[in-house]
Amino acid sequence: MNQKITIDPETTSWIEVYHRMTEIVIPRPIAVVSTVDAQGRPNLAPFSFYTVVSSNPPHIAFSPHLSGRTGEKKDTLRNIEVIGEFVVASATELIAEKVNACAAPLPTGDSEFTHSGLTPEPAETVTPFLVKESPINLECKLVEIRAYGDQGGAGHLVVGRINRIHLNADLLNDEGHIRSEALQAVGRMGTNLWVKTRETFPMPRPE
Ligand SMILES: Cc1cc2nc3c(=O)[nH]c(=O)nc-3n(C[C@H](O)[C@H](O)[C@H](O)COP(=O)(O)O)c2cc1C
Repeated sequence: MNQKITIDPETTSWIEVYHRMTEIVIPRPIAVVSTVDAQGRPNLAPFSFYTVVSSNPPHIAFSPHLSGRTGEKKDTLRNIEVIGEFVVASATELIAEKVNACAAPLPTGDSEFTHSGLTPEPAETVTPFLVKESPINLECKLVEIRAYGDQGGAGHLVVGRINRIHLNADLLNDEGHIRSEALQAVGRMGTNLWVKTRETFPMPRPE
């Protein structure tokens, strides 16, 4: 018989709980979040605690944690608190390594665009930049931030309303749907594993 293990988060280190959660909730899409600070300096970082929240009107959410190393807010969260705007680009196979490079703990104010080789492009309705190499960019206005604690690892859910959806025209099929095989989105699994999204199967909804 398969023996069961039960974890009580109250009596387990948050790092252990973090590992189990990121191994359980898979696959997770990766938001490449572009922000600027009060001086207009660009910042870019990946976040896999990311999902859609509402379609009408469209909202998305992602969750930067307080740093596990320092307990401090990450630059992305600080910038959004000040500016109230952000852009979410999609992580794809072509730019996966550059997206990963954006997770390096650079000094505040140093641009992950420069560090990773990704290219900033002006957005239409917000100050943060689009990511030129990503085939999808979402311009977002901050709606709310909700903190779930004040220690390292505490999530800060950032919800934004989408102002503009930019996508490369060659992603679309004849019916106007985005072809996932053309997008080649990548996602996050547990540990340091990423996942490709090439293998799909149809599952018609029950009538
Ligand atoms: C694929 C990937 C997904 C990540 N997801 C998250 C996440 O959901 N929440 C988080 O706080 N950090 C996440 N990180 C770590 C941040 O990207 C990292 O701390 C980054 O340096 C934060 O940048 P910033 O200080 O410029 O905001 C992720 C890293 C990678 C590579």
